[in-house]
Amino acid sequence: MKDSSYRLVLLPGDGTGPEVVREGRKVLDALAEGGPHPWTLEEHPGGAVYYRDHGKEWEPEAEEAAREADAILLGAVGWPGVNLPNGDIAGAALVLGLRRDLDLYANVRPCRLYPGVLHRISGEYKQVWSPAKVDLVILRENTEGLYTPARGLLRRGGETEVAIDTRVITRKGSERVIRRAFAEARRRSRGAPEDGVRRVTCVDKSNVLEGCRFFRETFDRIGRAEYPEIERDYAYVDAFAQWIVRNPEHYNVVVSTNMMGDIVTDLASVLQGGMGFAAGGNIGEAHAMFEPVHGSAPKHAGQNRVNPFATFFATEMMLRHLGETHTDSRLLQQADRLEQAIARELQAGTARTYDQGGALSTSDVGDRVVAAIRGTVG
Ligand code: IPM
Ligand code: MN
Repeated sequence: MKDSSYRLVLLPGDGTGPEVVREGRKVLDALAEGGPHPWTLEEHPGGAVYYRDHGKEWEPEAEEAAREADAILLGAVGWPGVNLPNGDIAGAALVLGLRRDLDLYANVRPCRLYPGVLHRISGEYKQVWSPAKVDLVILRENTEGLYTPARGLLRRGGETEVAIDTRVITRKGSERVIRRAFAEARRRSRGAPEDGVRRVTCVDKSNVLEGCRFFRETFDRIGRAEYPEIERDYAYVDAFAQWIVRNPEHYNVVVSTNMMGDIVTDLASVLQGGMGFAAGGNIGEAHAMFEPVHGSAPKHAGQNRVNPFATFFATEMMLRHLGETHTDSRLLQQADRLEQAIARELQAGTARTYDQGGALSTSDVGDRVVAAIRGTVG
């Protein structure tokens, strides 16, 4: 347990990012009410719009705060038509940059369906999957793969002729995320909903790609030697895309490479009620950053209408991560309180934003969750 307070750095970013981070801050304040504050909160601007207005993605103080934080809560970055000179999305420093610079090698994305959450399929709001059948976590390698900055264009006579992205799969990069996936299967209180088996599924394209064959070999070697009691399971990424929809109950922990993990986590979010509920933790040995996965959603920005639950889940993950890494029961208890408040509001089905067929605003939902927190024991 830490003697001093935890330093939490909030990076609201662009678009709907500041709208959901504002609600995240509200729930953190509600949790801290009536007791000594176990954390300090500070906010720093940055992102694409900041770049457009100031010619830099963020200030050096913001970057330094992110480096020194005990944990970071990121909203979202990106704005249409605002790019860096090299063509990257402006604001990339806050997401892709921090993932690499702070060596946040595992992107951990839980996919759990809470009772009361609806699925929007073909424009209708339904309960399609049973909450008892959707409870998995996907770990995505977060520092290499197709996101490795080993890319470029061949331009001849002012015309682009060739564009190349190089997919890099390293032993170290694979080993650590795979180890973390097996450790997660060991640590979780439950196995797969289907049969209770503790299972890690390696999602790859090893029938075609060399890097994926290496990733799968590494998966086998580590699983066999270090986690023999955890079932090893395999899926080619294309087949996985149908199985995860048809049989989500088979999955417990899933591990994949960077780009494949990016794609399948968006797909899997449908099972948990949509992107409005999907949160992720970018975790390294020394640093961690948490975020809603939905992005800046420019078409909804400024309207106070997007679903803040993804940010509440990200906030809960952040508190739990701090509690676990610092063996601090105060933080674990706060994470539990937040989860109970979230679960209660979801179950009641009265805290629904537009994406759930409801009429509440982002801040209305935040108010409800704050009220639910005040109703839990501090
Ligand atoms: C994500 C996002 C990012 C990614 C974008 C914003 C660069 O899609 O976190 O999944 O591609 O990783
Ligand atoms: Mn993504």
